[in-house]
Amino acid sequence: MTSQDYIKREDKFGAHNYHPLPVVLERGEGIFVWDVEGKKYFDFLSAYSAVNQGHCNPKIVNAMIEQAKKLTLTSRAFYNDVLGEFEEFATKYFGYDKLLPMNTGAEADETALKLCRKWAYEVKGIEENKAKIIVCEGNFHGRTITIISMSTDPDAKKGFGPYTPGFEVIPYNDLDALAKELEDPNVAGFLVEPIQGEAGVYVPDSGFLKKASEMCKAKNVLFIADEVQTGIARTGKLLACDHEDVRPDILILGKAISGGVMPVSAVLADDEIMLTIKPGEHGSTFGGNPVAAKVAMAALEVVRDENLAEKAEALGIIFREKMSEIKSDMIELVRGKGLLNAVVIKPKDGKTAMDVCLKMAENGLLAKPTHDHIIRFAPPLVITEEQLLEAVKIIEKSILEF
Ligand SMILES: Cc1ncc(COP(=O)(O)O)c(C=O)c1O
Repeated sequence: MTSQDYIKREDKFGAHNYHPLPVVLERGEGIFVWDVEGKKYFDFLSAYSAVNQGHCNPKIVNAMIEQAKKLTLTSRAFYNDVLGEFEEFATKYFGYDKLLPMNTGAEADETALKLCRKWAYEVKGIEENKAKIIVCEGNFHGRTITIISMSTDPDAKKGFGPYTPGFEVIPYNDLDALAKELEDPNVAGFLVEPIQGEAGVYVPDSGFLKKASEMCKAKNVLFIADEVQTGIARTGKLLACDHEDVRPDILILGKAISGGVMPVSAVLADDEIMLTIKPGEHGSTFGGNPVAAKVAMAALEVVRDENLAEKAEALGIIFREKMSEIKSDMIELVRGKGLLNAVVIKPKDGKTAMDVCLKMAENGLLAKPTHDHIIRFAPPLVITEEQLLEAVKIIEKSILEF
């Protein structure tokens, strides 16, 4: 079968809820993926920052295989001998009292919202059903109905109503707007991405997170960080909040907590918050399964043992510098932190960010536009400086072909 055959089959039998680049991948190793025709590509998307540790990272894959041969799923109706080990490991790793395991990023966000509301009623003392959570314009937290209820993206939202109430939207990076909303005593939490990834890698002003978290603290409002995309070393620190020494009250993790090997997500918080949810009030059949627990521990060990945060920090500086040197009027702006970067593309002769991505694919590098005019560049963090420079050359060559 050729790539076209695979694409046609998906088109015929699969729902049309994605618009992938016309590349059919069959193998991955480290920073590279290969298509069914054997063509090799640099992966500069990393499955939206899930594959930070590189494709098919042997340490993570082996942890998965070994556990899968022993015990894959018990449900939480019973204990298993691995979950506690993972919970102890991860709470020490991130510095929280407790962890609640889920599977996808959206589920972890939902969990955080439920925790925040529960805490609002049981600890803060907000009247039942009155709790509000502040969110930001341009947010992306996943695809459930409650999550899209907070969204300001018409593509994500339109046609899926009625929506879940209880959210107040403020502009991203706007402390004045936050201060105003925080005056409402029914506000329980502020949910924020430390960098808005899906929106196009919007990095807030330096000091925004710090100040916002202080303002929340002063009003007894939970500062909830969605680090599903920014977390686990992607931005040059273990967490993007670490850039400003901010410790979220609720920390939401997904994607790279498994190195992209299987869906694993987690919410971390201290006892005052986490213990408001009691047995029977929340859960997931697969959340905290032994394979996920082993995979996540291996994935977090790789991040620590291979100093991926420090690497992302250093290589990110080089990447942005090299991208800014490319002489093309299609490059309007380069921004990002660590190895989560974006280039804003100015269309030229009708050619858009999608055309640039198609050209890069032709030249052996995969990236995907977000919102028509922005290309996100986020390679696995195991990339070397030499490989990064080689990749920059492909990007440069592709852009200059227009
Ligand atoms: C910040 C953020 N939160 C949540 C999600 C949702 O994660 P998932 O697709 O695993 O549900 C994403 C996915 O891109 C994300 O970027």
